Order: sequence, then structure tokens, then C-alpha cells
Amino acid sequence: MGKIREENGKFYPPEDFVEQAYVSSREEYEKMWKQSVEDPETFWGEIASELYWYKKWLKVNREDFAKGEIEWFIGGKTNISYNCLDMQIKKGRGDKVAILFQGEPEDDVVKLTYKEMLKLVSKFANVLKKKGVRKGDRVAIYLPMIWQLPVAMLACARIGAIHTIVFGGFSAEALRDRILDAGAKILITANGYWRSGKTVSSKATADTAIDLCAKEGHTVDKVIVVKRLDNFDVPMKAGRDTWFEDEIAASDISDVCAPVWMDAEDPLFILYTSGSTGKPKGVLHTTGGYMVYTYASFKYIFDYKDKDIFFCTADIGWVTGHSYIVYGPLANGATSIVFESVPTYPNPDRFWQIVEKFKVSIFYTAPTAIRALMKEGDQWPAKRDLSSLRLLGSVGEPINPEAWLWYHKHIGGERCPIVDTWWQTETGGILITPLPGAWPTIPGFATLPFFGVKARALQPRSSADQPAVDAPVNEQGELCMERSWPGMMRGVFGEPERFFNTYFVQQPGFYFSGDGAIRNEDGYFRLMGRIDDVVNVSGHRMGTAEVEAALNSYPAVAESAVVGFPHEVKGEDLYAYVILKTGFEPSDQLKKELVAHVRKEIGPIASPGKIQFVPGLPKTRSGKIMRRILRKVASGEIDQLGDTTTLADPSVVDIIVAGRQ
Ligand code: WT7
Repeated sequence: MGKIREENGKFYPPEDFVEQAYVSSREEYEKMWKQSVEDPETFWGEIASELYWYKKWLKVNREDFAKGEIEWFIGGKTNISYNCLDMQIKKGRGDKVAILFQGEPEDDVVKLTYKEMLKLVSKFANVLKKKGVRKGDRVAIYLPMIWQLPVAMLACARIGAIHTIVFGGFSAEALRDRILDAGAKILITANGYWRSGKTVSSKATADTAIDLCAKEGHTVDKVIVVKRLDNFDVPMKAGRDTWFEDEIAASDISDVCAPVWMDAEDPLFILYTSGSTGKPKGVLHTTGGYMVYTYASFKYIFDYKDKDIFFCTADIGWVTGHSYIVYGPLANGATSIVFESVPTYPNPDRFWQIVEKFKVSIFYTAPTAIRALMKEGDQWPAKRDLSSLRLLGSVGEPINPEAWLWYHKHIGGERCPIVDTWWQTETGGILITPLPGAWPTIPGFATLPFFGVKARALQPRSSADQPAVDAPVNEQGELCMERSWPGMMRGVFGEPERFFNTYFVQQPGFYFSGDGAIRNEDGYFRLMGRIDDVVNVSGHRMGTAEVEAALNSYPAVAESAVVGFPHEVKGEDLYAYVILKTGFEPSDQLKKELVAHVRKEIGPIASPGKIQFVPGLPKTRSGKIMRRILRKVASGEIDQLGDTTTLADPSVVDIIVAGRQ
């Protein structure tokens, strides 16, 4: 493949890449994009027709942002597992590998073809039915990155059960909250998994979570446990817990299971994500629109061709894994890698070793991983053959130009276009992104909206009466969407008002993303990070209110305030200001206890990188914490604190500055 050409800071895709790309110029894109937003009926109707519908939709879409109502493929009936499996077999891909599992141990590889996946999924769907699971029931899944995870998801989808996957790094308390909120009566977990040479038990955490649920009056009736680790005993409760392997091998379990034909707007899954309050939101996605959107975005953004090997390093416990390890790739008949372990074990070249071993052609990861591996030195990718790669992707947080350039040079061999893809749990799929063969990229810019997406960077508005006005070129605005796209979330599970209030009030008539963005002269978007009380730690979203609630539940804590600050590898880290109750003294020991407590309440991903004990917080006379000041202190910008005269007690700022960690 030819080299990428750089001119005035713009990186142009190689000609041979352009020639084979689905979309090969900005003009072609503009034409398609125009149709996608002006005539969604035709545009999305044609794309949806590439998939199987048991019953065709009557109308492509209807929306009312004034009410937060969104519908796609109205009246259509389909099943996403049928499209991801049966249809691929019908198209001749039965013997192609669908899921390529690489365990942490090097020789632990499982390749499952589309035919094998269909059998496993059908068996497990029959197991779920045998356990009493019906359409609309919620199934909690607390599994590590093993091949049984996509099997469990697709089995739920096959029978219309709603999966809610909880990331394996969440604690028992966090798992409890999600099981309770979703009202799940069944939980799928594993005895354990490998992590950097050690074993971790998922079942132990699951058991604690179930006991905690019982205290709240909620019973989890059935637990299915995958035997991931050999010779790794876990307690099994008779009548409640059974082994996945025994269940699918039972003589009454058939390997055929007819799909339940789902209404396009029937729920597919709930995925919890942090917001600006203490309680995570159950983001609800439905069947038809999500299916069409992950299918189309995967195809065009990764310029996916039948011979590609796709490796997305995300965990399926996050939305990236839902959309771009499982649903998007399988709906396209791709081979998708599921990797159990971490980038740095046994050496910091594990990703590159996997690329070499399986001849990965499309690689998708997060800036935090790139930065961490960049620090380990160029020799690690240099000793691997990365020539199979033709396209790279980035997701989860803004990518700094330094990391972008390293990725481009040392991984992409100055040959692979990079797609910096902006999206959210809420959006279901990628919204702002380069199309890799269509226009030049600029490090740090996610560039242009995908088909069907009308993105704007708007000036803040104080009321609905004010008109929506775009921020001037190269000035920051609030990233909003003017209309819905098929993959958009449809609600917050059990909290309809929260859906409306979170996303449709800040900029009336628009979907408000919570991110800041600028647009340059070319119309390219550059994402500037969150503008709400959400912090992005290692590409994972953490609500500061959630961490505060965890800190405040510790007996020694009177009050706390958590903000983000820049971190070299994680992108951002958490900085906690803590006021102790009378009778408690600041100490390093207490800091350790607080970190341990947050890990117990939420999980390691929420542990604050820095804790500062303070006598008070900067509050306005009405009692509102001025977080702007706390953010400035945390990031060391102490000479830019701005106006502090409106504070009830300005002297507290000096104390906070003096005690900065
Ligand atoms: C937030 C969403 C979507 C998959 C993983 C995260 C940030 C995401 C980018 C990007 C700049 C990005 C945003 C967004 N974000 N991708 N390419 N450039 N920022 O999902 O946990 O729902 O977090 O991640 O701030 O709002 P999530």
C-alpha cells in the first residue's frame, strides 16, 4: 500500500486506499450525506434493505425532539441475531470465523465459525428459555472478555430478552445497583478469568452482589457460570447456580432456536453509564435502528471488506465492544477478535503480537492505550510484522497529536489512515469521524459527521426563546445534534423524565451531547472534552457526583468535591477534595482507606488519583460549589483562578491552593 502524504498538517490517504474505498472523495460524501439528512426515507431505507426484515417497515422514521420521542423503521420486524448469524450463513459465510478468541495464555485460542456460533447461540437461547426467560426480561451479564460473552448477548437477542452487561471491573456494589435498576432475575458470570498472570474471580463478586440485592428484597433466581478457569473452585449454590457447559450440553437442549421477531422499537439492551448525578443511567437501545446503524457505520467508517480481520481492543462491557466487537462486525459477516487480556502482559507488545499472529487488517483502540504503549518505547512494535494493517481507529477521548503521530508512524507505518471516531454510549455508534478514503485528516480532529448526523457546535443558550446560534469558526461551542439517527438511544430505563431533561433541555430542539467542540474552516470538528460534570479517565466515563457519593458514604467524610485534571497516560484523572467530620484527622492512612472505599463502592476505575483534605470548599453565597476554581487548582493553573469575589469565603481558596497535591 502507498504512503500517506502530508501537506500543511493534513494527512491524505494513499491513492490505492482511495481507489478501493466505498467513499473516495469529499464530494461523494457530501452527496450521500445530503441525501441521508434530506431524504432519510430513501437513504436509510436502502441501507436497511441490505439486512433481513421479517416484515418491512411502514415508515423509516418519526421524531419529536420537543418531547424526546424517536422511532426508526416503524412497524418493521426483524431479529439482530438472525442478521448476525443465519443471514451470514445464507450468504455463504458459514465456515468463516466469526469470533476469534485469544485468551491471555498464548495457546488459548478458540475460533468459532458463523455456523458454530449459530449452534452455540441457539443452544444458549434454549437454555435461557428453559430457565424461564421471555421476551422483555432483563438478563444481567457479568462476564470477562471470553467468547461466551458474545454468545450470551446474541442468545438474549435471539429470544428478545434485554441484556445488560456490567463491565468486569465494576465492584459488587456497582453490580448490585445495576441488577436492581434493571430488575434482572438471572445473571450470567464466570468462575474467573486471567489478568496479567493472575486469576480474578467474577463469581465471588457476583455472589456478593446477589447477597446485597437480597438485602434490598430482590432475588436473583438463576446464575449461569462459565467455567473459564480450570481447577478454580467457586461455591455453587444448589438450585440457583449451574455451569454454562453443563447447560448447553444437556440432552433436552436443541441447537436450533427460532428467532423471536422483534418490533424495530423493541428494546435490545440496556447499558449503564455515568451522568452528572450520583446514579448511573440505564441507556436503552432498541432493535432495528441500532442494527442498521452499527451495520452501516462499521461498513463505511472501517471501510470493511470481506477479507479483513478486525481487532477492537475495547471491553464488551462498554458500548464500543457492543457495537464494534459484536453487532456491527457480525452484521457485516466479519471476523472479530475477542481478547481477554491487557496490552502490557507478558510484554508491552501484546497487541502487536496479536496483529502479527492473526494478520489483523483493521485495528481499533483508545488513545490511553496508545499513550501507555508509546511510553514503553518504539522497539516493541518495531520487532513485530504489522504489514497486514491497512486502517487504524481511535475512540473514547480526544487523541493528542503526539499520540496520533506515534500511532501513524510506528503502528500504521505511515501507510494506514486513522479514523478518530467520536461517539457515546447514548449514540449507539460513531457519529463524527473521517471516512478513511474520502478526505484528509488532521491529528486531533474527528472531522465530519457520519451519514444521517446533523452535528452543530452551538453557543450556550439560557432559554428556549433564544435562537440556536453556531459558535464562530474555531471557537468552542456545545456539540449538539439537530435530528435523530437510527442508532440513537431511546430512553433512560425506568426514568423517562431523566432522558428528556439530560439531553433535550440544555439546547431546546437538539440532542445535547455534553461535549464541547470547535469547527475549523473546513467544517472539521475538534472535540474538546466534556463540559458537564463527567470526567473521562482512560477513555471511561466517570461521573464526579458518583465518586462524591461514594466518598461521602465513608464515616469520616463530611463533604467532598471531585473534578478532573489532565493526566499524561489516562487523559484525565480524578482529584478529590475532602472535608472530614470533626474528630477525624487527615492522614495518608485515611487517604488509602478512602481509595479502598471508592474501589469497593464503584470499582478501581473510579479511584481518585489525588486526594486533598480541605477545611472548606469554594462556595457561592447560595451554596453552590465553584468547580471552575477546583478544576484550575487540580490542574495547576493557580494563576488563572478568575474572579473569586462572589465566594461566601474567598480565603478558603488560598488554603486550597497552598495544600495542592
Ligand atoms: C464520551 C463518551 C464511545 C465509546 C467510548 C466512550 C468522549 C469518545 C471521542 C473522540 C474525543 C471522545 C466524549 C464522549 N469521546 N470518543 N474520538 N474524541 N472525545 O463512551 O463512556 O459513553 O463516553 O467519550 O467526551 O462524550 P462513553
